Order: sequence, then C-alpha cells, then structure tokens
Amino acid sequence: KVLILDFGSQYTQLIARRIRELNVYSEIVPYNKVPELDESIKAVILSGSPFSVREERALHPELEKFIGKRPVLGICYGAQYIAQHFGGRVERSETREYGKANLGKIHKSEGLFAGLEVGSQVWMSHGDTIKAIPEEFELLASTADVEVAAYGSKPGAFDLPVYCIQFHPEVYHSLDGKELLRNFLVDIAGCKCSWTPASFVGETVQALQAKIGEEDRVLLGLSGGVDSSVAAMLLHKAIGERLFCFFIDNGLLRQDEFEQVLKGYEGMGLNVTGIDAKNEFYAALAGVSDPEKKRKAIGKTFIDVFDREAKKLTNIKYLAQGTIYPDVIESVSVHGPSVTIKSHHNVGGLPAKMGLKIVEPLRFLFKDEVRRVGTEMGMADHLIKRHPFPGPGLAIRILGDITPEKVALLQKADAIYINKLREHGLYDQVWQAGTILLPVQSVGVMGDERTYEQAVALRAVNSTDGMTAEWSHLPYEFLAAVSSSIINNVKGINRVVYDISTKPPATIEWE
Ligand code: XMP
Repeated sequence: KVLILDFGSQYTQLIARRIRELNVYSEIVPYNKVPELDESIKAVILSGSPFSVREERALHPELEKFIGKRPVLGICYGAQYIAQHFGGRVERSETREYGKANLGKIHKSEGLFAGLEVGSQVWMSHGDTIKAIPEEFELLASTADVEVAAYGSKPGAFDLPVYCIQFHPEVYHSLDGKELLRNFLVDIAGCKCSWTPASFVGETVQALQAKIGEEDRVLLGLSGGVDSSVAAMLLHKAIGERLFCFFIDNGLLRQDEFEQVLKGYEGMGLNVTGIDAKNEFYAALAGVSDPEKKRKAIGKTFIDVFDREAKKLTNIKYLAQGTIYPDVIESVSVHGPSVTIKSHHNVGGLPAKMGLKIVEPLRFLFKDEVRRVGTEMGMADHLIKRHPFPGPGLAIRILGDITPEKVALLQKADAIYINKLREHGLYDQVWQAGTILLPVQSVGVMGDERTYEQAVALRAVNSTDGMTAEWSHLPYEFLAAVSSSIINNVKGINRVVYDISTKPPATIEWE
C-alpha cells in the first residue's frame, strides 16, 4: 500500500481515490502520525496544505522516518516543505499560480515523467513557490510561470528517489496526472495493481471468516441504503445464516419504501427481520421541533427498539456497521477541532449500550468503491445507485414538529418528484434529491375556490461526497411537470418551489 500524509489539503482524499483508481491501495494518515514502515508500505506521498511552509505554525513531518527508506512523492506543500528542509528557498509567489498551465519544458523525460509529452496540461494551486532547489536535487519540469514545476533527487543522493511536484496530479485538470502517478507507484515504487473490487471481496470475506468465531452471530441494522446493504452482503458471503439483519420502519421512510426494500433484501438471500416501530418514533417526536432534538429523539428510539429486538436473539457477539472511509479519516484542519454543524451520528451510542464488538467491513472504502464492490457481488443497480437518504429520514425534511399526517402528505409529494426523476431519466444524474415540507401556508386558487394550503420545496444537488454541493440545473419542463402533478394530486399542497442554494453556505437538508 501507499501512505498519504495529510497536511489538511482539500485534495488529500482525491489523491487517495486517484491512486485506488489505479488499483493500488492507499491510506491517509495525519502528517505527524507516520506508522512504523513495514513491508506492506511501498511508497509515501505528502499532500498539499492550506498552510504555508513559511508560517510559524507550518506543519512539520518527520522526514527522516521515510526519506531514503521508501520512494517519496511530495505534492505542493509536500514539495515546498522538502525544498525548504534540505536548504532550498520557498517564497511567496508574485504571480498567481492557480489554474491550468502547461509543462513547457520537461528536463528529464524518464522516471516520473516517462511517457509524458511537452505541453502536458497540469493544475496549479499554490500561493508559495519554490525559488531554489536544494543541492541534492535536480530540476525535472517547468511551466511558463513556474520554473520549479517538478524536481527530484539526483541519482544516488538518497538510497531511494524523492520526487517533488508543485502542481496537483490528482486533479482531473492535470490531464496526464494519472500517468504520472502510475509512473511513480508502479515503475518507481514497484506497487502491484491488485486492489480491485473482486480482490477486496475475496480478502474481506476471508478476513471476516477468520475474525468471527464459528459459533458467533452478527447483527446488522439495514437502512435501505448502499453502505449497510453492501456490508450485509459481504457478511452474508462470509458467515451466511449467522448474520441477522434488522430493518426498522421508523415511520420516516419514503412512501412504500419499507415494504419494497424489505422484499429486495429477502430476494438477496439475507436473513432480515422487519420491525414496525412507527408509533414509537412518532410518540418520541410528538411536539419536538428543534432539529437537533429531533435527531436525538430518533437516535434514542432507534437504540431502544434495536436493543429490545436484539435481546430476543442469542449468541450475538458482533454488531456490524456500514461505516465508510471518509467517516474514519482523522482530519487535519486549519480550523482546529471541527465544530458540530449537524450531528450525523445517528446511532452513536448503540455498540456501547449493547456490549458488542464492532465489525466494519467497509471501513477503508470510499463511496464509489462501495458501489463497485456491490456490483461485483451482483447486487441490483436500483439498490447500488440509490440516492443517499439521511438516517432521521423525513423528520429533517418536515420543518417543525412531526405528525403522521405531515409524513403522509410529504410522502405523497416526494413520491411524485422521485418517480418523475426516474421517468425523465434524471434520477442517476443527480446525487441526491428530496422534497421538503415547509411550515408555511399560502393563498392559492383552484377553480373558483380560494385555497390556503402548504408549500413544498424540491431539492436536487450534484456532489461527490456531500461535503460540498451544487443545486442541479433540472430542466424547466421537468420542474413544471412535477409542480403541476404535485399540486393537482396532493390535497393540502398548493405551492411548489425549487431550492437553488449551494452548499456551502446552505446545507443539503433544510434541518
Ligand atoms: P447536509 O444537510 O449536512 O447533508 O448538507 C449532507 C449529507 O448528509 C445527509 N445527512 C444525514 N445523514 N444523519 C444521516 O445519516 C443525519 O442526521 C443527516 N443529516 C444530513 C444528507 O442527506 C446529505 O446526504
């Protein structure tokens, strides 16, 4: 595997993903937590950073732990840090070094730049620039504005080579970025391209079998989403009937979703118990309108129901969860410890309460990899490509307090929207979509009658990970069709609006 040292760049995860697209396994660790180098670690990459190497609070990695011991690639901040460390010069750059540029000169077209052509487009994004490289190094490539676009250790300067580049090969705008990474990983560091969905399934199933005792049983809460479903299928492959799944109807799912999803799961051979706990959730939510309190009430009820049902089973040793890699990466941030904007940890207290050990087969996968693993195991597209749906469900799409009537109203409007997205071939083009019931009444006219009814907002966003999002530019004709269908068919709603806010500063959900 390849270690990626994180200095807090927004691109760090992208480096990891790009490398994995080359079927090489990569892991992100904070810049100051480099593990002992064992045989599995073939190379080390240093990421970019929002910090400047010239600042007092600059981040200092322990270079001696890996330079010369493994092939090293420094990107942006990493490249600048290495330059400064070995006696080169880094200064604030006078020209804007941001955006597309071309490698006007490649001084050494072997090694890192093997196969790349002069003129290759790269993506720059830095405020500092390297003015002089240290003695042990030589210049590798330049652009019109950036003399030191890339440099590397002279042959023999270290036991193993060190390469440094100021542009970002992980960004798609660096058109040969993947080729460059491949040169580094495969030709220079000798990594094998064996990290594939099939190999992941095989290895994970084996590891699960080794970890889980022959008599042990595992319990997993399905949510209807991709992550928990793929986790369930992996465990099912590993331990078969000793996996027990719960799928809880919290009364906050989409229209008919409970029945449909349950059927789908049974079709996959999973051992699933459907639990109707609607009324318990509604009771816990009655009169609660603060979003965080709603989340807490739902989380607590979920734990209660889950725990009670689990007690009916014997020999359960493990609780399985569909946690994925972005949830476990320890982040380095300029803002210090992050503040809670919304608490997404739906069932944080569950494992402790039940006294079970945790098993998380997807802990090291990105979302797109989870999907590929699902497809590899033959799971149906409609499940794999489902939009993300929040744990607290429609409760955070009904502004204010929750009643079963409001849920039913929103479900009807939402079903029209989602079905129309599918009919118009737009469902797979948006990352997530949903309908929000607003606590607003407005005047309308239907026939000769005055109406005074509620409004819904439609939301659709494009995103890669939910951290940032753009509103989807859905066609006007489509929005018109959804609007008239909702107003004509859902009694109680007389107005439909479309949410055109990006995240940030808005969020995807309204609560
Ligand atoms: P926001 O609204 O924070 O949403 O921009 C980002 C992504 O997270 C989902 N989301 C949640 N998921 N529990 C969840 O499991 C929650 O409490 C929660 N709140 C938001 C949201 O649907 C979007 O995909």
